[in-house]
Parts: sequence; C-alpha cells; structure tokens
Amino acid sequence: MRLLIIGPPGGGKGTQSKFLIDYFQIPQISTGDILRENIKNKTSLGIEAKQFMDLGKLVSDSLIMNMIKKRLNDTDCNNGYILDGFPRTIPQAKGLDKLLQEMNQKIDHAIVMNVPDNLIVQRLSNRRTCKSCGTLYNLLFDPPSNIKKCDRCGGDLYQRSDDNPKTIKQRLSIYHEQTKPVINYYEDQNITKLIDSTGTIDEIKQSIIKSISN
Ligand code: AP5
Ligand code: MG
Repeated sequence: MRLLIIGPPGGGKGTQSKFLIDYFQIPQISTGDILRENIKNKTSLGIEAKQFMDLGKLVSDSLIMNMIKKRLNDTDCNNGYILDGFPRTIPQAKGLDKLLQEMNQKIDHAIVMNVPDNLIVQRLSNRRTCKSCGTLYNLLFDPPSNIKKCDRCGGDLYQRSDDNPKTIKQRLSIYHEQTKPVINYYEDQNITKLIDSTGTIDEIKQSIIKSISN
C-alpha cells in the first residue's frame, strides 16, 4: 500500500500516519520529521532548511526531491509507505510522478485531511511531541498523564518552535497558496479520498479505513 497524506499544518497527518504504520505495517516518511532530525544533528541540509522552517516557509523543491529519492530506495519501503507532508507543491508532485515511473510504482490513495483554519491554531498551540519516540499529544484533546513526559516511553515532551501564532499563520497561508493545487492534481488522477477531519482522532481513523477499503 502506497499512501499520500495531505492536509494543513495541524491537520492530523502525523497522528493518523502513526496509526496507519501499524495498520498496514509500512513506514511513515514525513519530510518535516526528516528535516527536524537534520536540524537536530546540525547537518548542512538541516542548517539550510532551518531558515525556512522557522519562518513557516517551504524548503526548496530540489532539496526535498533529493531527500525523497534517497528515502524511497530504502529496503523498508519495498512493501509500501505513507508520504506525510509530501508533495506540497506542483513541482514536487510532478517530481514524484517521474520518480514513481522510474521505480515502476504507483500511489494507491491520496488521503486529504479537511480541517477549517479556526481549529488549527488551537490544535497546534497545544501539541506536544516526545523527543525520543515521536509520539504526539495534545494538552486539550489527547493529553499525556504527565505534561512533561511521554506515556509510551518516558521521554521528554517538547513544543515545536514553529507552533507559535505568527508562524502558524504563515504556514496556513502557504498551504492555501501552494499545497491546495496539489489536491486538484491528484483529483485529476482520481486517487483522492477526502476526509472530514473535524471529529475525534478515532472517528477520523475509522473514516480513513472506510474510504480506502472501498
Ligand atoms: P511538517 O512537519 O510536515 O508540518 P506541517 O505540515 O505544518 O504539519 P504538522 O506536522 O504541524 O501537523 P500534522 O498535520 O502532522 O498534525 P498532527 O498530527 O501533529 O513540516 C514542517 C515544515 O517543514 C514546513 O513548514 C516546511 O518548512 C518544511 N517542509 C516539510 N515538508 C516539506 C515539503 N514537502 N516541501 C517543502 N518544505 C517542507 O496534529 C496536530 C495536533 O493536533 C496534535 O497535538 C494532535 O494530537 C492534535 N490532533 C490531531 N488530530 C486531532 C483531532 N481529530 N482532534 C483534536 N486534536 C487532534
Ligand atoms: Mg506532522
């Protein structure tokens, strides 16, 4: 199974990907997570990407394409994968099509998370992430037992530096301008599954399963 998960910042892409990893036994490839790992390790890729991410802007298409090309060739992707947060521009979508053609692969479904902007700020300002295992929490909607520690592994929880009101606004505006056209691109390929993502995490899981089982 090869899936794309497209949606606004805070739309629940990461949350639902974690569930799909277990459900389909395939890896999640989040371009945002790979970039943050590079920032943490102070690689040249991380140093370049940080300037854009801190401002809520997109990192260059060429840098992202190189990263994806390398990752899709890893052996754990042989039985499929979930692309979370990629592609986010039309050049990235076209680049992915070219790459898939070379690899003789195709995407089964593009899951599109629909969430109105007014829910996003509340979700993102209350997000906490585990530094060790990446588990996602929300202080309002999916709280950990201890606000500083991960229930799953005991790791420290942190708040992402781009989850502040100014950067969230910028990320949302870039989503509307540059990523929304990608949804039309996949509608033309007839592979989109539009998911109302305003309900609870569990209700959304059920909608995703239902939509891709049809
Ligand atoms: P990235 O890390 O992908 O960030 P994003 O797209 O802004 O999305 P988020 O990770 O913030 O949200 P999410 O949809 O995963 O939501 P989550 O499940 O965590 O990218 C970061 C940056 O990297 C970009 O701004 C850009 O600079 C760069 N970048 C990355 N990819 C790129 C690319 N392809 N090209 C160029 N640049 C790129 O949920 C959010 C919160 O809500 C959590 O607290 C969660 O618990 C809660 N929640 C989830 N679902 C629900 C629900 N149903 N009800 C209530 N709360 C919920
Ligand atoms: Mg995410």
